[in-house]
Amino acid sequence: MIGTGYVGLVTGTCFAESGNQVTCLDIDEEKVAGLNDGVIPIYEPGLTELVKRNHAAGRLKFTTHPDGAIPDAKCVFIGVGTPQGDDGRANLSALFGCVETIASRIKEDAIVVIKSTVPVGTNRKVAAKLKELTGRDVDVASNPEFLKEGAAVDDFTKPDRVVVGTVRDEVTEVLHELYRPFLRTERPFLSMGWESAEMTKYVANCLLATKISFINEMANLCERVGADVNSVRRGIGHDQRIGFSFLFPGVGYGGSCFPKDVRALMAVAEDTGMTSRILAAVDEVNDAQKTVLFEKVKAQLGEKLSGKTIGVWGLAFKPRTDDIREAPALVLIDSLLKAGATVQVHDPVAEANVKAIYGDKLIYGEHHYDAARDADLLCICTEWNEFRNPDFDYLKHAMAAPVILDGRNLFDPAEMAERGFTYEGIGLSANG
Ligand code: UDX
Repeated sequence: MIGTGYVGLVTGTCFAESGNQVTCLDIDEEKVAGLNDGVIPIYEPGLTELVKRNHAAGRLKFTTHPDGAIPDAKCVFIGVGTPQGDDGRANLSALFGCVETIASRIKEDAIVVIKSTVPVGTNRKVAAKLKELTGRDVDVASNPEFLKEGAAVDDFTKPDRVVVGTVRDEVTEVLHELYRPFLRTERPFLSMGWESAEMTKYVANCLLATKISFINEMANLCERVGADVNSVRRGIGHDQRIGFSFLFPGVGYGGSCFPKDVRALMAVAEDTGMTSRILAAVDEVNDAQKTVLFEKVKAQLGEKLSGKTIGVWGLAFKPRTDDIREAPALVLIDSLLKAGATVQVHDPVAEANVKAIYGDKLIYGEHHYDAARDADLLCICTEWNEFRNPDFDYLKHAMAAPVILDGRNLFDPAEMAERGFTYEGIGLSANG
């Protein structure tokens, strides 16, 4: 397994757990040394125990030396990052670096499996590169990953489906065998061509992002016309063609996948001479949604925020992760600081990552009540469970003014009014 990020570490560990011999390769010496000592570089429920158990059993190894990982491998998975470049396209330099590392070491009948999210056409290019470097046809498979941060182990071990793209049935069979332990209870193993597998990953993420931008825009409209988006959500969700999932309005999607994948697929379309108007709108609506809470802050407190103290609950792009990549909270914090506010923040696990960027520009509350203390207003950016049931009386007295702007719709507006709070969510209405 090359790359010990989210995808690589979870995949490698779960394959070790199902009885395979796995060696994870990474160029980051510190990370590898840490992993060998049982230090997991990401916060992911259940992962630490799994890594430690399989490492202790000798099934899971970590190394920085390609010769210790590649020559013996039947399957070489690539799970390195494909970050967004300046032009929105995925940067594939790490991936092709891996291809070079692999080419000189791989055994004759090994399969190279690409787990990284890559633009359509990449598997074909990797196969061509391997042929150029080795002088023979090396088997290449596309195997996109659909795991969610915060539920990664569960998603991997109980996948909705496994997708592989190959050009040879024998390769499909090897991968099917590898995934069989996770495919109990009728979970489908779907085999297709390289391009279709590559496209599947993007289309899945882009459709989910589209649902979010759509409901966010509808929520903003609900607010203007006095409708309540939660009522509307219930009203539409019982239609089985629509359903309830991924239609929660909020402060915009963040994280390492949706923003990057939407832009990467736009670039893929552009490269074919086509413009994706839908994806452009999804991206634009999302950028705008990240500013909605700040607009609400200004509506409450005015344009100039010097002398004002604002509390922010939640920094991670979603709960149960310490990931702050493209997190809406950061967009809000930047605007608050620029307007001169004193900003007090709290997140159960992402605080250290935020501190690394903002240092002493922010005040870090040990408890979420600390971030609200003496605040003129409290913003909620992430729906951590610990924020869902606060002691409202305590909160009201701790704050300088009882004003909550909730970017995740945790509370009922009518109840909040009864509790004596000025409360606004995203698309909520006291009319119900
Ligand atoms: C996503 C995909 O779900 C996963 O299949 C893929 O492999 C990687 O990208 P992840 O980025 O971990 O996973 O997070 P996810 O739980 O999907 O949430 C993404 C963002 O959408 C978060 O910012 C979340 O707050 C937001 N979101 C999600 C909403 O705003 N509303 C919703 O209804 C659902």
